Amino acid sequence: MITDNTSLKLEKVFRNAQDFLPLLGTDYVELYVGNAKQAAYYYMNAWGFKPVAYAGLETGSKDRVSYVLEQGKIRLVLTSPLQQDGPINAHINAHGDGVKVVAIWVDDATYSWEQTTQRGAVSNMEPVVLKDKDGEVVISAIHTYGETLHYFIERKNYNGVFLPGYQDWKTDFETTGAGLLFIDHMVGNVGWNEMNTWVDFYAKVMGFTQLVSFDDKDISTEYTALMSKVMANGNGRIKFPINEPAEGRKKSQIEEYINFYNGAGVQHIAVATDNIIDTVKRLKAGGVEFLYVPPSYYDDVLDRVGQIDEDLAPLKELGILIDRDDEGYLLQLFTKPVLDRPTMFFEIIQRKGAQSFGKGNFKALFESIEREQERRGTL
Ligand code: FE2
Repeated sequence: MITDNTSLKLEKVFRNAQDFLPLLGTDYVELYVGNAKQAAYYYMNAWGFKPVAYAGLETGSKDRVSYVLEQGKIRLVLTSPLQQDGPINAHINAHGDGVKVVAIWVDDATYSWEQTTQRGAVSNMEPVVLKDKDGEVVISAIHTYGETLHYFIERKNYNGVFLPGYQDWKTDFETTGAGLLFIDHMVGNVGWNEMNTWVDFYAKVMGFTQLVSFDDKDISTEYTALMSKVMANGNGRIKFPINEPAEGRKKSQIEEYINFYNGAGVQHIAVATDNIIDTVKRLKAGGVEFLYVPPSYYDDVLDRVGQIDEDLAPLKELGILIDRDDEGYLLQLFTKPVLDRPTMFFEIIQRKGAQSFGKGNFKALFESIEREQERRGTL
């Protein structure tokens, strides 16, 4: 006879067998940038991030400088080289500013590295223990699409400000925040015919499952098209949609990205808020630029999505998009690229039940992106 207790245990064993790579959440996102000091000022001043930690010449780091910023559970690390001809220089030369590391918070960085490399991940760094007076952190790393890396960060025995080697970063700069809470999802752009390779990677190597997919019929305008599949880990805290270009009459935004980034990379970081109107007002006041949404979008949007809690007027004024699925609705909007090259941007998202990604907005959105591409001469 299987008692309740036994079935509970069986369920646990089954779950462990399924989720061989338990992930606690996103630990941090590191960008390699040309001038970390000034990038940090942008994220503090425009986005309301709080200065947290610093590593550079003063802390014994001879080849690089890094600034660590936080808002809610979102942690950004901005890193620039201090010398010539190093790997960070080469990365910036090839890609411009961009995401180098998507670090994942785990309970056991050694086990995570073993499980993923056994399943075919290419190792970037075997597990290492970093120590200072505040304890120790175990870090390991594997490669994902393009030159992007996943770090596994085990910090249960660490009480310091970020990682060993970093010190408190004290400034007089006052940041008020913008109500950003956590990373909802992070999207990778990959090249032609590469989407399924990377979908398989996340399924086989990291134990993710596919949530939804869109093909070029879902996501196309008169000119451009793309395909997308969304991969999520076992507890759903980490969601990585993967895009690839599809044939259209003109060059798609994914192709534009691949051309300027020189390959696959992180396209956008979606950050969650529980008051999108307030958040977007603050970001706009800070100088963050958003994609233009034509006022006509709002003429019939409520016919499509039904009743919502918010007044339409502020959504229209701020260009916030609305979409609905079986479970509820969501509010979202997208910044223009936040770097010099037309590559990475941010999405601001507020979920009110909906667990999808705004498929109903793709057409309006892409037409807006195409207007920007037209201005850049890259359509
Ligand atoms: Fe998104």
